[in-house]
Parts: sequence; C-alpha cells; structure tokens
Amino acid sequence: MTTMTSAFDLVILGAGSGGYACALRAAQLGLSVALVEKDLVGGTCLHRGCIPTKALLHAAEVADNARDGAQFGVHATLDRVDLAEVKAYSESVVARLYQGLIGLVRSRQITVVDGGGRLELTGSGPQVTVGENSYRGRHIVLATGSYSRSLPGLRIDGDRVLTSEHALALEKLPTSAIVIGGGVIGVEFASAWRSFGVDVTVVEALPRLLPVEEPEISTALERAFRKRSITALTGMAITKAERTAAGIEVTLADDSTVAADLLLVAVGRGANTDGLGYAESGVAMERGFLTVNERLETSIPGVRAVGDIVAGYQLAHRGFAHGIFVAEDIAYADRLLPHPPTPVLDENIPRVTYSDPEIASVGLSEEEARARYEQVETLTYDLGGNGRSQILRTRGFVKLVRRGDGPVVGVHMIGARVSELVGEAQLITSWDAHPVDVAGLVHAHPTQNEALGEAHLALAGKPLHSHG
Ligand code: NAI
Repeated sequence: MTTMTSAFDLVILGAGSGGYACALRAAQLGLSVALVEKDLVGGTCLHRGCIPTKALLHAAEVADNARDGAQFGVHATLDRVDLAEVKAYSESVVARLYQGLIGLVRSRQITVVDGGGRLELTGSGPQVTVGENSYRGRHIVLATGSYSRSLPGLRIDGDRVLTSEHALALEKLPTSAIVIGGGVIGVEFASAWRSFGVDVTVVEALPRLLPVEEPEISTALERAFRKRSITALTGMAITKAERTAAGIEVTLADDSTVAADLLLVAVGRGANTDGLGYAESGVAMERGFLTVNERLETSIPGVRAVGDIVAGYQLAHRGFAHGIFVAEDIAYADRLLPHPPTPVLDENIPRVTYSDPEIASVGLSEEEARARYEQVETLTYDLGGNGRSQILRTRGFVKLVRRGDGPVVGVHMIGARVSELVGEAQLITSWDAHPVDVAGLVHAHPTQNEALGEAHLALAGKPLHSHG
C-alpha cells in the first residue's frame, strides 16, 4: 500500500460549523487548507441539528396557526400532519444549504479529505492520518464536535429509545412521547411534537425546565407548556425505562410510571474525543473536553481546538466564531493580518431556544452578575405593554440585568419571536451600552423590538408604556 504525505498550512479535523468556518476564513486569508471529514461537510448543525430542527419547528408553527386561526377570526381546519412530508421539506432546506456550502468550499480551493482522521504526533510535529495517508499541517485544528449522550443502563435503539438524530428521521408521528431532559433539545422537541398533536411528558432532573436560563423564564415556560397540555415533571429522576409491547414505560423516583410510544433522550451532548488519537497524543483533557487557553491552543504546540469539544456553550455560532478566530490568529502570526483577532467570550454568545414560546438571552444572568458586581439592578418589562406582542397574542417579558449604575450586562427574553430580538440585545451587552444609550434610540412601532427600547427607557428612569 502506498503512503502519501501532503503538507498544508492548516489541517482541520472535522467539517462541522467550527471546522468549515475555520477552513473558509483561512483559505480566504491565503492559507492552504485540508479539511478532513468522515461524513458530510456541514456536520451536525446542518444535517442533524440546528437546521432540520428549526424546519420542524416552523412546520409546528404552521400547524398551530392552522389549528388556532379562529382566535383571529380566520377559521381553518387542521386535516393532518404528514411527518414524511415535513421531513422532505426539511431535507430540501438542508440540501439547498449544503449545495451552497460545498460550492463555497470548492471556490476557496480547500482540499476536502473524505475519511475518518486521527491526530498523531511524529518526530516532525503533529499530523492527521486518514487511512494510509498523512496530512501534515503547520497548524492542526481539532473540530470533531459532539454526540448525544445517553444515561447509564439506557440503551438507545433508534426505535423506541431515540436521540434527537433519530427523532428527526421519524416519518410517522407517535401518539405519545416521553422526553428525558428539559434542556434545549428536550424543550424544542416537546414543543414541536405537541404542536403536531402528540401527547408529551418531559422529565427533568433539576427543579425547572431550561435550568440555565433565569428562574422567571423557566416559570413562564412551564406555565405556557401547561396551557399547551405538555406535562413537565421537574425535579424528577428516572429509575427505570422498559420496552413494552406497546412502546416504553418509565418508572420515576416517586415510583409512579409513565407509558408512551417512544422515549427521546436529551440529557446533554458529550465531546467527540474518543478513538481519535487525542489521548494517545497526550493532549490535555478535562471531563471529556479538550483543555484550551483563550487563544484556543491545546497543550500540544501547533494544535488548536474549536467548537463543541471545547467546554462551554455547545452552539453552532460559537463554533463559527471559534473557527474564524483561529484562522485569523494564525494569519496574524503569519503577518497576513495587521491586527490580532479578539478571543471569543462565552458570555457574549447569544442563546436561543426555538420552542413556543421562544426564549433568547445574552450576557450574564442576575445570579452571575450579583456574584461579580457589588451592585446590580434588574428590570422586567412585560410584553403585555407591547403592541406587536398583543397582536401576536403572545405573553412574555424582557428582563434586563445592569451593573450598578453602569452598563447592561444581561438581557433575557421569553415570548413568540423573541429570537429576532437577540441581535439588538447582543449589541447592547457586547458594546457595554448604558440604559440611556438604548433609550435614546428610536425603535420602529409597532415591533417587538420596542419592548427592548421600553425596557431601557424604564431602566433609564423615563418609562413610557410601563409603570415605574
Ligand atoms: P442540555 O444540557 O441543554 O440539557 C440537558 C438537560 O437534561 C439538563 O437540563 C439536565 O439537567 C437534564 N438531565 C440530565 N440528566 C438527566 C436525567 N437523568 N433525568 C432527567 N433529566 C436529566 O442538553 P441538550 O438539550 O441535550 O442539548 C445539547 C446541546 O445542544 C446543548 O448544549 C445545547 O446548547 C445544544 N443545542 C442548542 C440548540 C439551540 O441553540 N437552539 C438546540 C438544540 C441543542
């Protein structure tokens, strides 16, 4: 067998959000790039994550609109939801985006290596091997992403016990479903399935749904879910899950049982670090994630890590930001860029849960702010005072967290379509805006963005459509 060795400026292992963003930016800056991928360029987000789940949730919203039109005087009947057709629609969205991405990768002359790669340390430095071939890089970027974790003793069979990947592949709706884990994935699937008429029970071990969000947001979400007849069992552990002739039966810590057609396991994602030569190469890891410094350098010189294998928010846009940062940092060292890029800070990364209602936040929680600063002020603006939210018949609020009499350091929102407000919220927290700065901006009327404007007016001491 022949062994081939090729040399590049960058060899990137994994072509998901982190890996391909790094490849695109590095190539744009004039660096030669090999991008090693064993599956499809685009990774989990494009093929089995963000994009198909948001397509599913959009179809869910269409179903809700058809079913609930009468409240707006528009009478319609929801005949049926054909999940195979929903899947075909979702796949067509993915296919179009995939074609575009492949075109971009090709046009930037990135060498895509089709196969499973491993990190290897040689006398002349680190490299990635794929079968018999070696790809040597001045820099190696590890971007191997994450996988759906299960629970000890619970076997995922793809039939009754599913991960989110299996759930996306379903062609027929279950009548009932149990979701273990009330985090982002659990809440999004519970929401979509309920819109399609499925009887859903969410079991969350911690005392509230979306435990990383503000407690008031969890309370509002739980209330909204109750109204939608989604059962949320919080502070509840599962002791047993058994397959039955009809589906699955779960026993809870209080000895009660819940039966359903299927079980979705959404208890978090682990980093893909096994079997890739990482441990053998001696790259430092902590609780399964790669240890990196602010510049995303691992313990091995010349090897960086980006995206979900770095502990922190496992979000596609964080992966993009990591990838771009690494490409620019390398280009800066090569004098291809005049200034060093700014390291990516997790607290500036916006977070969105696309359920009904939506949840979006950026910056510090009230608790984090109180741990960091002596004086903290908060303000909650109810969407009841926002015209557009009333038109949409949504309930929710915007909560601001401010440092002393300084800038706004956290924005937290719940309500229909608030995902679209997180862009402005992010500018506010990232640019250290003070309430008066935002209060001075004119927000279009009637938009939901006005809720952000009004909240800042109130925090600046001049509330308009709110008491204070
Ligand atoms: P997660 O960490 O958000 O939530 C997992 C939940 O499961 C936690 O609330 C945890 O307390 C609970 N849990 C753990 N063990 C349990 C047990 N034995 N019984 C009951 N509950 C248990 O993880 P999730 O939802 O699986 O998502 C994985 C990652 O994917 C997240 O980091 C998320 O940020 C990302 N993602 C982001 C999306 C978005 O931005 N819209 C959408 C989907 C996923």
